[in-house]
Amino acid sequence: MMSEHMPRYPEPFWRKESETTEYPALTDNTDCDVAVVGGGIAGITTAYLLQKEGKNVVLIDAGKLINGTTGHTTAKITSQHGLFYDELINHFGKEKARHYYDANQEGLEFIEELVNELSIDCDFSHEDAFVFTQDPDEIFKIKKEDEAYQQLDINGGLIDEKTLPFYTRAAIVMRDQAQFHPVKYLNALTDAFIKAGGTVYENTTASDVKTGDRPAVITREGHEITCDHVVAASHFPFYDGMGFYFARMHAERSYSLAVKTSKPITSGMYINAEDPKRSIRCTPAEDGYLMIIGGEKHKTGQGIDTSKHYDALAAYSREMFPDAEILYRWATHDLITMDKLPYIGHITERHKNIFVATGFHKWGMTNGTIAAKIIRDGILEKENTYRELFTPHRMKADPGIKEFVKENANVAKYFVKGKAEMVRRKPEDLASDEGGVVTVKGKRAGAYKDPDGLLHAVDTTCTHMGCECEWNDGDRTWDCPCHGSRFNVQGEVIEGPADKPLRKLDLE
Ligand code: FES
Repeated sequence: MMSEHMPRYPEPFWRKESETTEYPALTDNTDCDVAVVGGGIAGITTAYLLQKEGKNVVLIDAGKLINGTTGHTTAKITSQHGLFYDELINHFGKEKARHYYDANQEGLEFIEELVNELSIDCDFSHEDAFVFTQDPDEIFKIKKEDEAYQQLDINGGLIDEKTLPFYTRAAIVMRDQAQFHPVKYLNALTDAFIKAGGTVYENTTASDVKTGDRPAVITREGHEITCDHVVAASHFPFYDGMGFYFARMHAERSYSLAVKTSKPITSGMYINAEDPKRSIRCTPAEDGYLMIIGGEKHKTGQGIDTSKHYDALAAYSREMFPDAEILYRWATHDLITMDKLPYIGHITERHKNIFVATGFHKWGMTNGTIAAKIIRDGILEKENTYRELFTPHRMKADPGIKEFVKENANVAKYFVKGKAEMVRRKPEDLASDEGGVVTVKGKRAGAYKDPDGLLHAVDTTCTHMGCECEWNDGDRTWDCPCHGSRFNVQGEVIEGPADKPLRKLDLE
């Protein structure tokens, strides 16, 4: 059970503070130049850029805009992705590592350009970004990362750790990065998209693509959006096209708190080198500042009792800020590709009119923005410097393939384990506001007893590819360990790739 100091229900600070969007659902067939699926930073930016180029764009989202990973981020706009550049040089060589840095810097600069061009009031500020360690055994990693910064001519390097506002053993800085309020930024970008003639449909789930010269996105309700190009920017791609994305990415879950304190750290963005991960930044709020404390990553659906992760972050927050008051808590899923670089480009080599942007690791603000530019250029048939680096068809060159086979074996283990598991607990054994795996008529099922004593029971077989969902006690959701789908207690989809609800069970 969650500690009493924690907000009862998860809700990201970013969404609480901004107006929620209200767009209609698609109720008929329609036709356009480009159909963009997914209302996060990659989808909205792509839609805006193409509409500005004179394309007629339709943007759809399965739920509300900016309510997926983008609405649940820590919203750092940075090319410093933890300790990454030493690893990148080792795997890809110096040139590609520098290319990755350049791409992310371009993403950062482009966000700033749009903020200025459209006069977006979104708390954008320049900040230095730091990786620090409090563990003496990790100091060598910071030093190696510093060597990588020097080789790649990155603006930053080792700094005197005593200059950080809390105890550290070593730290490295990347200068002149940024942060913002992602929902305020993307609401403004959506407004600009609509003003330019674009169309948005919410609560419209894409479930398939009819391929051809003029493909069509098919929605769950059976409506078709016929177009010249499809863009799958739906976090996990809603359409696979035999690109085997389900076997080339895994999902990780991490947690965030928004914390009020009388002594906020108002400058800099911080992340540690060791595990468990800890990410720290500040954000302006209604009456002062809040600290955003993130971390506690684990594979989706494999975190046992997820409320423990929130509690661990809360304990850390109080260590840092003794008067910390936790106002918001939320969790997110990130998709990690085989080599940790996003997949951006044609979904397969055969499908030249279907594009994908996915696998942003935990760094979607810059990667999602550069994805939008790459896809815009692809559709306009213009060259883009970063096309090759991010092409989804680089499978053969993946250096992490051994590691990845291990990861997927882990996923497969969960597939089999879930099916074979013996469960003795019955729905009536659940306490109020408790959920879990139970047995119903001798079969594995999922049940949740709400505070009014009403039982909600579902078949826990994920409607994506059949893995068994696990109960997430922290958020009161059913999470799939295989590719990160999430369902609410009634079985409705919160997050794909699943596009169909879990089967409801009648307990009578
Ligand atoms: Fe793929 Fe559940 S998300 S099987």
